[in-house]
Amino acid sequence: MYIPPFNTTSSSTYTQSPNPSWTYGQRVDATPAGKDWLAGESAGWKVYDTAETDRINLNKLLNSGVLPRPMALVSTISDDGVENIAPFSWFNTVTNYPPVISFAINHKSPGHLKDTTTNLRNGKGFAVNIISEAFVENANATAIDAPLGFDEWTLSGLTKEKCVCMRLDDTVQIRASRVKESAFSMEYELYKSINITHPVTGEHTSTLILAHVKYFHVRKDMLTIKGIVDLTKFKPVSRVGDISYARVGDAYRIAVPLWAREEAKIQEALTTTLASA
Ligand SMILES: Cc1cc2nc3c(=O)[nH]c(=O)nc-3n(C[C@H](O)[C@H](O)[C@H](O)COP(=O)(O)O)c2cc1C
Repeated sequence: MYIPPFNTTSSSTYTQSPNPSWTYGQRVDATPAGKDWLAGESAGWKVYDTAETDRINLNKLLNSGVLPRPMALVSTISDDGVENIAPFSWFNTVTNYPPVISFAINHKSPGHLKDTTTNLRNGKGFAVNIISEAFVENANATAIDAPLGFDEWTLSGLTKEKCVCMRLDDTVQIRASRVKESAFSMEYELYKSINITHPVTGEHTSTLILAHVKYFHVRKDMLTIKGIVDLTKFKPVSRVGDISYARVGDAYRIAVPLWAREEAKIQEALTTTLASA
C-alpha cells in the first residue's frame, strides 16, 4: 500500500465548529453532515461481551476506539542509576489541583513488570515529556523491548536534561532526566500506584500510576500571551488505532454554556421543539 510522505507544510488552524448555528434541542439529522453520519446506523451495532473477547481484541477495541490519546514519554531512573525512557498512550490528566496525571502500564508478561513500573516506585521521581511531531520517531524507538538495564536514551537521539529538583537540592527525589527536545515536560513524584486486577480471575495485569506534578517546563516560544500552549506551534502527536499516530487537526472553539446566560434561549428552543412535536 502506497503511503504518501508526511505533509510538513500542513499545520493546525482555527476554524468554525461543524455546526455553528446549532440550537438547543436540535437533532443531529438537522444538517446534511448529520444525516450522513446517522445513515451509518443502517449497518447496525456489533456488541462485544468482554467476558468472551480475548486480550488481543480487547486491546484492538480500546486502542482504536478511545481516541485520540495523548502521548507521554516517561523518563525514569533505576535504583542502580540506569536511566530508562518509554512511551505510554494510556495517559491523561486527572486533576488540576493538586496537579495529578495518570497512566497505565501493562505487565510485560504475568508477574513481570516493565522497567518503568519498577523504577516509578523507587521514590527517585520521574518525568513525563509530551511528544511533538519533530521527534516522534525518536520517541517511538524507545518502546523497544530492550534487555533489563539497557538505557533506551542511547538509541533515541534525544537529549537528557536534569530535572529542577535534582539541580536545587541533591537530596530531593527527582533524579530522572527530562527530554530537552520536549516543549512541555513535567517532573513528578509518585502519588499512588494502583494494582489493576481482573475482577473475575484476580490476575494482576497492569498498574495504574497517579503522579503529582512538581514542576512544569514549558518552552517559552510555545506560550501565548494568555499563558496557553499554542497548539499550532506545539504540534503534539496523538495515538490512534493499531500502530498509528495522528497529528492534531484544525481546532474549533465552542463555549461552555452557562445556565444564567442561556436559560431564556433554552426555554424558547424547547417550547418550539415541543410545539412542533
Ligand atoms: C505509541 C506507544 C504507546 C504505548 N503505550 C503504552 C501504554 O499505555 N501502556 C503500556 O504498558 N505500554 C505502552 N507501550 C509499550 C511500552 O512503551 C513498551 O512496552 C516499553 O518497552 C516499556 O518500556 P520499559 O520496559 O523500559 O518500561 C506503548 C508503546 C508505543 C509505541
